[in-house]
Amino acid sequence: MNFTLSNNLTIPAPGFGTFKTPDGDICINSVREAIHAGYTHIDTAAVYGNEKSVGEGVRQSGADRSGLFITSKVWNTERGYDKTLRACEKTLEDLGMDYLDLYLIHWPANEQQFGDQAVKINLDTWKAMERLHDEKLVRSIGLSNFYAHHLEPVLANADVAPVIDQIEYHPGLLQEETVDLCKKNSILVEAWSPLGRGKLVEDPLLIETAGRYGKSPAQVILRWVLQRGVLPLVKSVHADRIRQNLDIFDFTLTDEDMAKIAALPDTRFGSHPDTAKF
Ligand SMILES: NC(=O)c1ccc[n+]([C@@H]2O[C@H](COP(=O)([O-])OP(=O)(O)OC[C@H]3O[C@@H](n4cnc5c(N)ncnc54)[C@H](OP(=O)(O)O)[C@@H]3O)[C@@H](O)[C@H]2O)c1
Repeated sequence: MNFTLSNNLTIPAPGFGTFKTPDGDICINSVREAIHAGYTHIDTAAVYGNEKSVGEGVRQSGADRSGLFITSKVWNTERGYDKTLRACEKTLEDLGMDYLDLYLIHWPANEQQFGDQAVKINLDTWKAMERLHDEKLVRSIGLSNFYAHHLEPVLANADVAPVIDQIEYHPGLLQEETVDLCKKNSILVEAWSPLGRGKLVEDPLLIETAGRYGKSPAQVILRWVLQRGVLPLVKSVHADRIRQNLDIFDFTLTDEDMAKIAALPDTRFGSHPDTAKF
């Protein structure tokens, strides 16, 4: 299925993740496998260290670049106007592509690390994102790990509006304040680590629910994310799971099951943007 972004571009769901996918053959093969299975949306980042392999996997798939949606992200060491422009150039070179469909600021500069300079750093970085957009090197621009209070100054100062916020999101981490602000501003939320890096598939409620629908716990989670209007990104390096994670369109979770899954206890698998030290 596709979501439509506020700039009218369509973005396919689910997206295929590549975090912690080792550079080289494993990454090349998993990206090629994913495209052959039917994914047309690939999510990577400079800091994953595998952009060359992602690009190679795309080329080996034989898919037409224009039918794919490719996302990358500017890493924290490259924040600021000039460094962000150069970071995007390097990402395009490593991917072997002449444009990205989406470029994201990977993490906001936070106050714990940057004090009262944090907002200025994020705004300077955003200005570079806008220039990359104007120059058509990137078709859309957005944010990642920006919670409501990081997002507000960008919204107040942007000439080109962010179309996406990619945040940790899964049963046990509903991110209501940020999701509400995104909805009000027509920003699509993308879920990273929807499976809790694989750990949530062991949850007894999700196992029980999956059994009733004849699906796997991973499929139930991805379906739950989609039914909440959020775009899941999911990573696997195994062909069977790559295919399984795409097979989520032949069932619908009831309102009761949606609510039970939403009530799972609070949990977080990655860093919090306010306390991240990297
Ligand atoms: N913006 C950010 O800061 C940020 C942070 C984290 C992630 N992301 C993006 O979001 C994507 C997804 O997040 P993620 O990779 O952290 O976690 P995830 O997709 O929630 O989970 C991936 C883990 O689950 C396992 N898995 C995949 N499908 C499965 C299935 N059907 N059954 C059981 N286990 C399964 C994978 O193992 P195998 O590979 O061995 O199959 C892997 O260990 C990333 O790859 C990345 O593109 C962004």
